[in-house]
This record gives sequence, C-alpha cells and structure tokens, in this order.
Amino acid sequence: MQINPERFLADLHTLRSFGAAGVGKGVVRPAYSDADVAARQWLAQRMRDAGLQVQVDAMGNLFGLADGRSLLMGSHSDSQPEGGWLDGALGVISALEVARAAAEAGGPAVSVVSFQDEEGRFGVTTGSAVWSGHLTLAQADVLTDHTGIALGDARQSVAVMVTGDVSPDQFTGFVELHIEQGPTLDESGEQIGVVTDIVGIRDMKITFDGQQNHAGTTPMHLRRDAFQAVSAFNAALNNRLRNVVTPQTVWTIGHVSLHPNASSIVPGRAVFSMQWRDADTDRLARMEQIIRDTASEIGSDQGMTLSFGPMLGLEPVAMNERLRTALEAGASVIAPENWRTMPSGALHDATNVSRLMSVAMLFVPSIGGVSHTFEEDTAEGDLVAGVRVLAHAVNHLESMP
Ligand code: GLV
Ligand code: MN
Ligand code: MN
Repeated sequence: MQINPERFLADLHTLRSFGAAGVGKGVVRPAYSDADVAARQWLAQRMRDAGLQVQVDAMGNLFGLADGRSLLMGSHSDSQPEGGWLDGALGVISALEVARAAAEAGGPAVSVVSFQDEEGRFGVTTGSAVWSGHLTLAQADVLTDHTGIALGDARQSVAVMVTGDVSPDQFTGFVELHIEQGPTLDESGEQIGVVTDIVGIRDMKITFDGQQNHAGTTPMHLRRDAFQAVSAFNAALNNRLRNVVTPQTVWTIGHVSLHPNASSIVPGRAVFSMQWRDADTDRLARMEQIIRDTASEIGSDQGMTLSFGPMLGLEPVAMNERLRTALEAGASVIAPENWRTMPSGALHDATNVSRLMSVAMLFVPSIGGVSHTFEEDTAEGDLVAGVRVLAHAVNHLESMP
C-alpha cells in the first residue's frame, strides 16, 4: 500500500483546527466540549469518505469500520485542558491514512477508532474503559469532572451521533501509534520506539475538611486550614515514598481546589487529585497504603475530616508478541538502526483494549520530551515515518502465520 504523506499531514492539521489554542500548535478539546464534538463530526465524515462505516457508541467512541474482520487502529481525539496537537490525534489520523491506503490497495481490512475521554476529564481513559467492560456505562455516568459535572450529563453532547454498541469480535487486534511524550527518543536521536509494556496507574481524589474562617482575626494556632494540611501531606508523602519507589515511579498532585479560594479566607476545604504510576502492581498497592496512612495522620494532626474518592486505576500490560514483531519488522525497514524497544510511562487506550484482543503500540519522538502542554510537537519526518512503519506492519501481519 502507498501512504500519502500530504493527505495525512493535511488531515492532522485540520483536526488541530478544532479547539486550536495557545502558542505553537496547542489544542483545547476536552471530551464532550463543542470542539470535541465538532472534531468527531468531521472525523466521521473523513471515515465515510474513506469508505468506512461509521458507528458511535453511547460514550461517544467513534469507529470507522471496514467490511468483515479487520485490524483496529487508532487512539483518541479529546485533549487535556491544555494539550498539544498530536496526543491521540496522531494515532487517529495515522489509522485513517493506513485504512485509506489499504482500501486503495485492495486490502488488508483496517478499521479506525477515536476513543472518548482518554485524557480523563472524568476518570482514567473512560471511553475505552467502558468499551472494554472495565467500567459499566452506569458506573461511568456518575463520575464527575473537577467542576462537578457528571459524565452522564456531559455525554448528551454526542447523543445525536450515537448509533449503538460496537462489537469487538470483528477485530483481529489493535495497534496504536502515539507520540512518546517523554525524553527518551528525543535524547537518543532515534526515530521509532516499539513499546514493550504500558505502566499501571492509580488515581483518586482526596478531601480535607477543616474550618473556614477569617484570615485576619483567626490566630495561627487555632486554624484548621485545609491548604496547610495539603501542603504538610505533600511534604510528608514525598519523604515516605522514597523508600519504596524506583527512578521510574511517578506521583502527581495535579489539581487542587480550595474552598472558597479567596485571599482573606482561611480555606475550609481542599479537594485534590492524587495520581501515581509504576510498572509493578505490588508497588502501586504499597504506595496506596502510604498515601492513605499519611493523609490520615496529617488529617488528624491538623484537625481535618478526611475523605477519599473512588479509586480509579489500570494495571500494567505487556504488548502482544505477534503484533510487536510486525512493528519491529516495519521499524527495521523504515528506520534501520534508528529505533528501539521501550516501555510506556504514559497511559493509553491500548491498556483497556488489551482486555478484548491483542494490542501493540508504536512511538515517535516528542521534541524536547514535552507533552500535555501547548508546546508539544514532533518533526514531520518522524510523523510520516511512524505512519510508514504502521503500513509496513499491517502488510507484514498478512504474511505472518
Ligand atoms: C494519558 O494522557 C496519560 O495521562 O498518560
Ligand atoms: Mn494520548
Ligand atoms: Mn494525553
């Protein structure tokens, strides 16, 4: 099959125009926003133009289906509250290009997907979590974003597109191309990474309730200041985790909401996100215990009422050998001596899809190793090389036993 780099890059730029923001090639396209729905409608038309049959499930996961049994490729087209133009989008548009090129060549059959809410406005990779049965739709519907909006209400914005459930039985496997979103390939100068494993993640909200009060009249020793509790928790946690983590383990408090968030009020309530990732399930569990114990001790020291939100998470997964071998064969041809195998520290829809079928993933470099920021970018030559490796792998799979 012949991929068309100009057509692929033009579609990638058009997708960026939905929610284009910020410097460089930034994007603001959170799940179920107007920009996200408009992008999905445009993508659906591009899928139809490619001869694919469009189906959308209740979550808003958008599929372009080839006839008969097919290899599924894709990623997500929602973005972080501040994101780049490639995170997810690259996987969707590269899949579309490979599906088109394959159809033009008379096969093999390739279907395309753009999952919904991979970026976790409501949880962790919620669209593919529901499609793969990790969460029921009812469980997903009650998840809320940081402003209190429930997913069940937000997803009404895609209701007009919904056609019904999409059976996974028609797919022979799933392959996802993604930007690396880290420094490894950028630093080594290599063009392609074939993913070996994806790390596991845990994510929950923690709430400290203290006493809202006057910031001028309340003596320091009488305060029950929820921000001070978060601050003390963070310092203690960093210290205590030191004994159990590896250099690859990561943890993040990425969202803090203070109530009522005013300069002259001692904050009475702090709700914050606590997320941690590691390749080892036991370590994730040990970290959870330390997080819970530390929050409990700091909470009682500082006169807080403590509560934990639902624990969301995904287990670490290994990539499928057969699909991985096909990607490695493609990498050897398109980027000879210029690729490596590597783990993924970012989460991906492939983790959820691995419950249903074999999965594999491919990375291209992120310039400066940055992502989840407007500055995210990748050299055009590397983007095109990624699509060429996919195309090669799809052909290679045909000839594999
Ligand atoms: C997905 O974007 C992640 O947070 O790894
Ligand atoms: Mn992504
Ligand atoms: Mn992302």
